[in-house]
Amino acid sequence: MLEQALPVIAVLATGGTIAGAQADATSAGYKAGSFSVNDLLAAVPQLSGIAEIRAEQVANVGSQNMTHAVWRALAERVNTLCQDASVAGIVITHGTDTLEETAYFLSLVIQHDKPVVLVGAMRPATALGAEGPANLYNAVALARHPDARGRGPLVVMNEDVHYAREIQKIASAGLCAFASPNRGRAGGMHGGAPCFYSRNTTTHTTQSEFSLALLERAGWPRVDIVYAHANLQADLIEFLTDSVDGIVLAGVGDGNATDLAIDALSRAADRGVAVVRSSRTGSGFVARDVELDDGSLGFIAARDLNPQKARILLMLALSVTRDTAAMQAVFDRY
Ligand code: SIN
Repeated sequence: MLEQALPVIAVLATGGTIAGAQADATSAGYKAGSFSVNDLLAAVPQLSGIAEIRAEQVANVGSQNMTHAVWRALAERVNTLCQDASVAGIVITHGTDTLEETAYFLSLVIQHDKPVVLVGAMRPATALGAEGPANLYNAVALARHPDARGRGPLVVMNEDVHYAREIQKIASAGLCAFASPNRGRAGGMHGGAPCFYSRNTTTHTTQSEFSLALLERAGWPRVDIVYAHANLQADLIEFLTDSVDGIVLAGVGDGNATDLAIDALSRAADRGVAVVRSSRTGSGFVARDVELDDGSLGFIAARDLNPQKARILLMLALSVTRDTAAMQAVFDRY
């Protein structure tokens, strides 16, 4: 009998704690992005039983240093690999700090339904009980599985599977650091196979109107986040008004802020800066025209997107329009 060839999975490494090294196996401190992609793969010899791996080092950084330049390189590479009929799926190893942002960005600029799975680890590779090897095994098992197709980029951490739009890092330490607070997990990994609990009903990949080419043409519009708090003043917003294309308010509660800040944001909107209201609370929905009159203030409501993902969607929306109503329609659709 002919032996069946194993599916080819491309593993693109970008660094993070999954590739982190400590001075010794019990120390709290470590350096993210110390090991290469080949080191990571060597720690999981079981992968040779489920896939033919093609490894590439795209970057090797702690993901607090993730940049738009790395996103550009990753998106270009993933789009190319998606066109390669010999590749069944793609795995991206990534630091956990901004993993959700990279996953969401890719979900909007990759126009393919091939599985793309992002994975990280909370414990460095040298730690006692490092979970990176098991996470990486699950990521490859997920990327080669037919059920992973057409769902947009997925994240696998700690045997949970999350959709790119929903996942959030919710704790600074510990193994249970990820959740999908609004719509719930996509599914789980059981014995090396996924079990999905829900479909991804949001707009992504093949339905996305955005692309790297549009973003390049628009010069990657600059969008910054203002974090609301008691006694927030106007001057930070006034400073930003002159230097950004968009501001996302990480607002208190239902996307609110002091009267001083709201007035300054409205003046920014009058001057052509796109202003999105989101919530710093970590979950829930910021509804248009409920707590504030977005229509007369010139604002856009982020609905259930967190501030860091609203920043990405606003950047992409600004690559196709400067019209506030059209940008609100983007937030309503995505
Ligand atoms: C990072 O995001 O690169 C550091 C933290 C981690 O990966 O857990």
